[in-house]
Amino acid sequence: MPIRLLQLTDLHLFGDSTGQLLGITTRDSFEAVLELALSSSTETSAVILSGDLVHDETASGYRYLGEALRRTQLPHYCVGGNHDNLELMSAHLGSAALGPVALRRLQGWNLVFLSSSVPGQDGGHLSAVQLSQLESLLEENRAPTAIFLHHHPIPIHSAWMDTMGVDNGAELTALCDRHPHLKAIVFGHIHQAFHAKHGECAILGSPSTCFQFLPGSRDFAIDDSPPGYRELTLYPDGALATKVVRLQHYAELPLHQVGGY
Ligand SMILES: [Fe+2]
Repeated sequence: MPIRLLQLTDLHLFGDSTGQLLGITTRDSFEAVLELALSSSTETSAVILSGDLVHDETASGYRYLGEALRRTQLPHYCVGGNHDNLELMSAHLGSAALGPVALRRLQGWNLVFLSSSVPGQDGGHLSAVQLSQLESLLEENRAPTAIFLHHHPIPIHSAWMDTMGVDNGAELTALCDRHPHLKAIVFGHIHQAFHAKHGECAILGSPSTCFQFLPGSRDFAIDDSPPGYRELTLYPDGALATKVVRLQHYAELPLHQVGGY
């Protein structure tokens, strides 16, 4: 049986259930995306959240998220983003809060979770210790592997966003050259769908469960594409299939604010 993973990212929740960011009530849009993701008749193996979970970094926001994830009764794995408080994440998400380098084995695949956030910065970085642990892990176990982190490790051709990726992302993608069993690097942060290849390794960015950024834009710009998630199907032979799924209609449209949020 293949593994079916649901990646939800950049929830930007608030402690207050009515909290909005750029005109989107982020708790409502998250719940709508989660419901859509879980509505498929295909059995889900695990839910992965790749950062920017609670925008106001409140205990009540993480408590709500922990309860929502436990209600799915599915294994769930979370890494933090630049809008996250790692202590509160651990306190309320328990063993689902992962990093700096964490391995979870699932039916013959290795899922590796990396913390790429740097306190006080929007951009990301991977430490020499993390990269060396990752290299050892890939050398020791040749099972097909997918890596999940918050920040994008390669440019996505959006100048403002490319100032805040993983600043040493090339060291991460270089692992694909040395370890052909590394099949995918999957991230959030960019609030848009993105698909590239580094050799045979898929480099995948995913839409946010709330508002989206305009692909290819030099400056900060909002896109009206609806909230969504990414689905990954991992096969026993190391093959991988993936697609982005969005809500068909979502009542709230994001505010086209200029300059940032
Ligand atoms: Fe975000």
